[in-house]
Amino acid sequence: MSCHKSYITTPIYYVNDVAHIGHAYTTIIADTLARYARLIGQETFFLTGTDEHGQKIEESAKKRGKDTKAYADEISATFRNLWDEFDISYDKFIRTTDTDHIKGVQKAFSVMHERGDIYKDKYKGHYCISCETFFPETQLVDGEFCPDCGKSTSIVEEESYFFKLSSYEDKLLAWYRDNPECILPKSKRNEVIRFVEGGLNDLSITRTSFDWGVKLPKEFNDPKHVMYVWLDALMNYVTALGYGTDEVNMEFWPARVHLIGKDILRFHAIYWPAFLMSLGLPLPKHIGAHGWWTRNGEKMSKSKGNVVNPKEVADAYGLENFRYFMLREVPFGGDGDFSQKALIDRINSDLGNDLGNLLNRLIGMSGKYFKGKVESDLVEIYYKEELKEVEESLSKLEPYLFELQLHRYLEELWRPLTVANRAIDKYQPWTMIKEGKKDETMALNGLIATILAKVSLMLHAVMPKTTTTIANALGFEINPENFNKIIREGEVLPPFTIEKREPLFPRIEEELLVEKKPEVKVEPKKEKKKEVENIALIGIDDFFKTLLKIGTVVDAKEVKKSKKLLLLQVDIGEEKPRQVVAGIKEWYSAEDILNTQVCVVANLKPAKLMGMVSEGMLLASKDKNGLCLIRPERPKVNGTPIS
Ligand code: ME8
Ligand code: MG
Repeated sequence: MSCHKSYITTPIYYVNDVAHIGHAYTTIIADTLARYARLIGQETFFLTGTDEHGQKIEESAKKRGKDTKAYADEISATFRNLWDEFDISYDKFIRTTDTDHIKGVQKAFSVMHERGDIYKDKYKGHYCISCETFFPETQLVDGEFCPDCGKSTSIVEEESYFFKLSSYEDKLLAWYRDNPECILPKSKRNEVIRFVEGGLNDLSITRTSFDWGVKLPKEFNDPKHVMYVWLDALMNYVTALGYGTDEVNMEFWPARVHLIGKDILRFHAIYWPAFLMSLGLPLPKHIGAHGWWTRNGEKMSKSKGNVVNPKEVADAYGLENFRYFMLREVPFGGDGDFSQKALIDRINSDLGNDLGNLLNRLIGMSGKYFKGKVESDLVEIYYKEELKEVEESLSKLEPYLFELQLHRYLEELWRPLTVANRAIDKYQPWTMIKEGKKDETMALNGLIATILAKVSLMLHAVMPKTTTTIANALGFEINPENFNKIIREGEVLPPFTIEKREPLFPRIEEELLVEKKPEVKVEPKKEKKKEVENIALIGIDDFFKTLLKIGTVVDAKEVKKSKKLLLLQVDIGEEKPRQVVAGIKEWYSAEDILNTQVCVVANLKPAKLMGMVSEGMLLASKDKNGLCLIRPERPKVNGTPIS
């Protein structure tokens, strides 16, 4: 699926309420696609905005005692501000109350009418205000309630203009048939086909019962009518390009993808293509419908009070970590549960351990052995296999992205990181350097740097700032030119000097958002009786039986299946670093501890923990607030005794 121009849209959100993480999700997916398209050098236009007409908005404003337009202005601004704070790279923010949009909708109405697709009649039906939709009696739940949202419907009888949707049945079915990827994920396409095969009624496209909407074009001379919000709203995708005005520039049309939630698939997959056919415009390439975000297993909704505020999550956990989590956690199209635990796991494990710690390992090794210099020219000689495995993974990625399989994209993108981390464990640079294998060690660093560079380029669209920080550390810039060189042409990274930096993903130990839970009283625990009085006294000789030394952690990684253990290599001034298995993972990530100094018990009998030999112990102290390591106040030469 190759395109030179990428037009990417989100739904335009209703201004009846402020955004929750569901809205953020769609917008973040769209932003990711737009950023990626730009990075590969495509001309890109990314549209979002707000849907402001209709009875639902009119009623929301009234409930709050506000003028409808003033209310719409206010809520529309909250969406726009949120996207700005979230660094969403939209090119245009459209509002259906914009004059140009209104002109475009009126123009479309005239064109459809000229085509013979619009006629006037009477309409009587069950209307759900919340969904702004008529439902046939047969679809109502218990003869009254909306089959989509469950709210009570009311009988509305009015004079109405109709769009001849029924005459598009065959053309729609042909479109679905000839374009197997028009609706993604593909399983959703079958649902739509089944629905259309069941027969389509003509669609009422005007209302007379309220007037907060787009008026019909003047030539109709019918001022009672305003346009149906869904006709009004769907048209935004082309009025944003100037459709119906003097400044029309449709070169971005058709859209590459309309991103939506599955709640509004029918409008996008049935009405919208039918409207476009009537207007003589090409149809979008893809409609991508994702699933619901739920909360601890329950569907997120205002009435349940379980709505998650995206700003709070981003503030607490970091915007880009949140972006990564949303895209990685849920297969596109499926429902996903938002839990802080799952988010924390992703941050500590995927981001902190696999990615952040890898950069730290590189900083440590190149700093220690080569004064920070990293050169990749020998990578192909010494690590051909590893490089091949990385290139294989990378070559699979782009199709996943444009097929909207973002979770698989990220999953596959993590494979090169595994290759890199595995290579360090396997080749043990601390041993190689001792054996005088300088070239091999430098090439290993080059391999790690090159992998980090490639992953940063491919991850940039998801985590723009984080990957820019990584690229800075690696001395290169993320731009289309380097994308071409390093990704498309498979080049290694040019030489650079790396500097030490703060961990990118400090370990998160507990949930950062406080949830309102019913209070449970806990009996205060009785302090353990202090045993100071009974301590046996020792002589100085006894104390010196314990050999204590300062050391530097030269390598650190998580023990995968263990909640508690980190596997460390600690340089205590001996021939080889000591391997220490330390039960500190709850308080320190591998990234936190790498390249720091610690105090080591150096004459402990080696022990086996989870099958790994541990040749030492770290000094630490633990109270009710957790554990901390005991460290020298100022850097000391490795191996310096402690007394
Ligand atoms: O439907 N999980 O606007 P809307 C995932 N104005 N996504 C969710 C979600 C959730 N729990 N809740 C909302 C409208 N969304 C119309 C659209 S377009 C021409 C007109 C996202 O404010 C998802 O993208 O109700 C869904 O389709 C959209 O918000 C609905 O936003
Ligand atoms: Mg909705």
